[in-house]
Amino acid sequence: MTSTARRPIIAGNWKMHYTHLEAIQVVQKLSYLLRKDDYEVTDVVLCPSLTSLRTIQTTLEADKIPIELGAQNVFWEESGAFTGEVSAPMLAKLNVHYVIIGHSERRQIFGETDEMVNKKLKAVQKFLMTPIVCVGETLEEREAGETAARLSGQVRGAFAGIKADAAAECVVAYEPIWAIGTGRNATAEDAGTTIGGIRATLAELYGETTAEQIRIQYGGSVKPGNIAELMARPEIDGALVGGASLDPDDFAKIICFER
Ligand code: 13P
Repeated sequence: MTSTARRPIIAGNWKMHYTHLEAIQVVQKLSYLLRKDDYEVTDVVLCPSLTSLRTIQTTLEADKIPIELGAQNVFWEESGAFTGEVSAPMLAKLNVHYVIIGHSERRQIFGETDEMVNKKLKAVQKFLMTPIVCVGETLEEREAGETAARLSGQVRGAFAGIKADAAAECVVAYEPIWAIGTGRNATAEDAGTTIGGIRATLAELYGETTAEQIRIQYGGSVKPGNIAELMARPEIDGALVGGASLDPDDFAKIICFER
């Protein structure tokens, strides 16, 4: 298996950090650190909090910074009486390109199910944005040898009713829950093997050709010191970075890792 045909994608998930004023400063510093060549070889994505989306959109567009904008969540209905929620057309209007769905924090803290993730995936694609579909196992599931079954179930749930050509456009992020924010990343070998398993599930659903087109990121304690090793694995097409993406120096080092 080779990943040469798949364009790497490195995304920063800022979670609930930074006001819009802080966010502008971080984006400006990051864009100062990145070079044209960096964007040529990698899709660079930033997913700030909702209150920073408009600010970051205008900063990126005014200064012609080729970082793509991502959102951390979406609701599946287009409009209506859903207090506190934000719809896909609202995000699309802000030139949001990517939407993270099914992050383990949303699943664990806010009770999101595979069925909800599936509805969100459809809403995101309807408005021509790209879902970043997160899957990952808990430490207990891992220790019980249930990782493959858990991931296969999450993938099948998220992609239910999605046709092959639409699936090919999606990004999947493998984020083992025990590695998120813990400083304990999966080894490159482990992440690569597990991501190979996720691609095998996608191949069962859609065939080899489509499965080979779907980009799969690794997420969980990605740092400047482990990115090169992770990206050297042919199964791994990029990273979804939490903590280290908050620091522009670290995030820039991750984006322009030593190839
Ligand atoms: P950390 O990089 O902080 O472990 O977070 C990973 C993550 O959840 C990205 O979505």
